[in-house]
Amino acid sequence: GSVAETIQRDPSFSKLNSDDISYFKGILGEKNVIQDEDRLAFANTDWMRKYKGSSKLLLLPRSTEEVSRVLKYCNSRRLAVVPQGGNTGLVGGSVPVFDEVIINMSSMNNIISFDKVSGILVCEAGCILENLVSFLDNQGFIMPLDLGAKGSCQIGGNVSTNAGGLRLVRYGSLHGNVLGIEAVLANGDVLDMLGTLRKDNTGYDLKHLFIGSEGSLGIVTKVSILSPPKLSSVNVAFLACKDYISCQKLLLEAKRRLGEILSAFEFLDNESLDLVLNHLEGVRNPLPPSMHNFYVLIETTGSNESYDKETLEAFLLHSMEGGLISDGVLAQDINQASSFWRIREGVPEALMKAGAVYKYDFSLPVEKMYNLVEEMRIKLGNSAKVIGYGHLGDGNLHLNVSTPQYDDMILAQIEPFVYEWTSKHRGSISAEHGLGLMKANKIFYSKSHRTVQLMASIKKLMDPNGILNPYKVLPHSMICDGSS
Ligand code: FAD
Ligand code: MLT
Ligand code: ZN
Repeated sequence: GSVAETIQRDPSFSKLNSDDISYFKGILGEKNVIQDEDRLAFANTDWMRKYKGSSKLLLLPRSTEEVSRVLKYCNSRRLAVVPQGGNTGLVGGSVPVFDEVIINMSSMNNIISFDKVSGILVCEAGCILENLVSFLDNQGFIMPLDLGAKGSCQIGGNVSTNAGGLRLVRYGSLHGNVLGIEAVLANGDVLDMLGTLRKDNTGYDLKHLFIGSEGSLGIVTKVSILSPPKLSSVNVAFLACKDYISCQKLLLEAKRRLGEILSAFEFLDNESLDLVLNHLEGVRNPLPPSMHNFYVLIETTGSNESYDKETLEAFLLHSMEGGLISDGVLAQDINQASSFWRIREGVPEALMKAGAVYKYDFSLPVEKMYNLVEEMRIKLGNSAKVIGYGHLGDGNLHLNVSTPQYDDMILAQIEPFVYEWTSKHRGSISAEHGLGLMKANKIFYSKSHRTVQLMASIKKLMDPNGILNPYKVLPHSMICDGSS
């Protein structure tokens, strides 16, 4: 990662010594203090294998109390730390930059309670998303978020990145679905905000500071989350559109005609589909071979099977007749439905198999969104593959540039162009992946100077020594004032 090469280790942080190791072993027990090289290599490297740290220590706390004692000690010793969940983050936020101590939450994976009347789940931060999905499924409920990394990512990581995912269009963001949080501050103080109330207007709602702050303000140890009931009728359609304007019109029609049953509206361009078909085994195009420029996956979720099917079929017929859809297929069973989802969810994995990837995640006005992909294609010509996919229903474009290997000449053609373009259209340079290490210094493309200053003051207040996930989220120069 070329970002890391431009940063220097903050000299105010101490280096780990053998007394530190003994202290941690005293708190956590021998086997939860990991110095094994293979396990460290894994924890030091991000999912894209793009960011690599050189931490010599991985800690596995089992309780809030242990997290608190570890942080209190690190703070007093000025040892920098990286909170880590499933390590599926896409902006280099979950791995150390230098020798930061990794605090991985995977051992805190208990479900604490589930209230079948309210649908409120309380669990520890290290629970894997897919395990929560299965647990709730047995109770007749669902998680209000779903994403391709569900088999590895943890709810604490999801909350800390404010992950969006595939069903945000229906259930909204975690700022709405998370009802409470327990977090440990840099000095070891435990903040109990683990409420389970829908409504609570008593002062500032500080839990929101931890949703999307990427481990820079504290370690999330527990969450309570509102889960919607599982509805009996789910339908998935895989559709082809001839051009981007048809995708946009289809979105408007879907919102109007599918209304309350619409639960996902995802899109991918032909180049994304090609990549998936070429690199993932067992995936095939459900539509007859023919050149379409765009594909849209629509899901509906409702409680009345015949009504839902009729509504969806009427919508599809209408869109077909109006020329918005050039072809399409409605899943006949759950296996076919998941094979459609596999195409969309498989794009990040296919990109990894294709070689190097420059990954961007923009919020943009839907009408303008795809222009960026086209302009990027013109700029890069034959030197790279440019693909566009994402959560069209949320105005969230994933622009990815795929090349056989990393090349600074290519990077110089992409950045700052894409950030300037996004800023000019008043978009966001991070719709859902966060800033991490990759975009910490790019925050000004989306936020005013005064706003970032206030963020830096909050960071200073909550983590005066700056030990929590240093070099990430905010420009490092605004946090280390040089006086230490
Ligand atoms: P990590 O990667 O371990 O950490 C992410 C960040 O959160 C880091 O800054 C870390 O320091 C911090 N953190 C982790 N746990 C804690 C904690 N307990 N307390 C404080 N800080 C913590 N994202 C989306 O928004 N939508 C998607 O659709 C989506 N799809 C994805 C698909 C794939 C295949 C992959 C690989 C990633 C995808 N992502 C998506 C990225 C997304 O951010 C992560 O998948 C997920 O939310 C991160 O969870 P994690 O447990 O892996 O966290
Ligand atoms: C997705 O929507 O597939 C994820 O955010 C991951 C990615 O963008 O690669
Ligand atoms: Zn996404």
